[in-house]
Amino acid sequence: MTLRIDVVTIFPDYLAPLDLSLIGRARRDGLVEVHVHDLRTWTHDRHRTVDDTPYGGGAGMVMRPEPWGEALDEICSAVRGRTPRIVVPGPGGEPFTQAEARRMASEEDWLVFACGRYEGIDERVYEEFAGRYPLSVLSLGDYVLNGGEVAALAMTEAVVRLVPGVVGNEASLVEESHEDGLLEYPVYTKPPVWRGREVPAVLLSGHHGQIARWRHEQRVERTAQRRPDMLDRRAAGDGPQRPTISASE
Ligand code: ADE
Repeated sequence: MTLRIDVVTIFPDYLAPLDLSLIGRARRDGLVEVHVHDLRTWTHDRHRTVDDTPYGGGAGMVMRPEPWGEALDEICSAVRGRTPRIVVPGPGGEPFTQAEARRMASEEDWLVFACGRYEGIDERVYEEFAGRYPLSVLSLGDYVLNGGEVAALAMTEAVVRLVPGVVGNEASLVEESHEDGLLEYPVYTKPPVWRGREVPAVLLSGHHGQIARWRHEQRVERTAQRRPDMLDRRAAGDGPQRPTISASE
């Protein structure tokens, strides 16, 4: 079944990159169906208001529940017989990982991204829709963006590139950072010498066993240097150990 992705936002133009490159082609090839919606469609006042001041006081504005309620009611019931997963990107969510991208690419057929802005969406929207649909609050990382749009773009790209047929060479998806708990090895192409810098001799040797060993060592060294936390998790047997791509994909 074609993966369907809906994005609800007050800045539909932010999602324009979904027309480009790999995802644009996947859409044209019918491998993924993307719909971007303006949340203000579901407002009824002259100013198309989506936010208001927080009860209890504090800085900033909170997104009102009514437009979200109407938008998600309508969008989530748009396909008879199908149930979407609602994804709310936010810095307070669970970490979005390669494992979750892979799970979504293989197990979900419909994702609805609800992109919040300001200080967030009224909590009752989460309660209402978590009671009716699978719902995930997911964070890109430990930093704060202005809204969920960039995160929805990033998550869409991470998931869609794993849909069979989207990336031409599927083998290239296995040997990647985060697929088995190690970062990727360094890569080189022609020319063999550039500004006096030589390509490591082993890569020109033609010894496949030695090349594989060298690449593995580079991955471990690089991971130890840049992401020691990943090696700790690997040693504890926690997290991806082997490529998680299945033979049927
Ligand atoms: N919205 C704001 N900050 C975010 C983050 N770190 N991840 C996902 N969505 C966000």
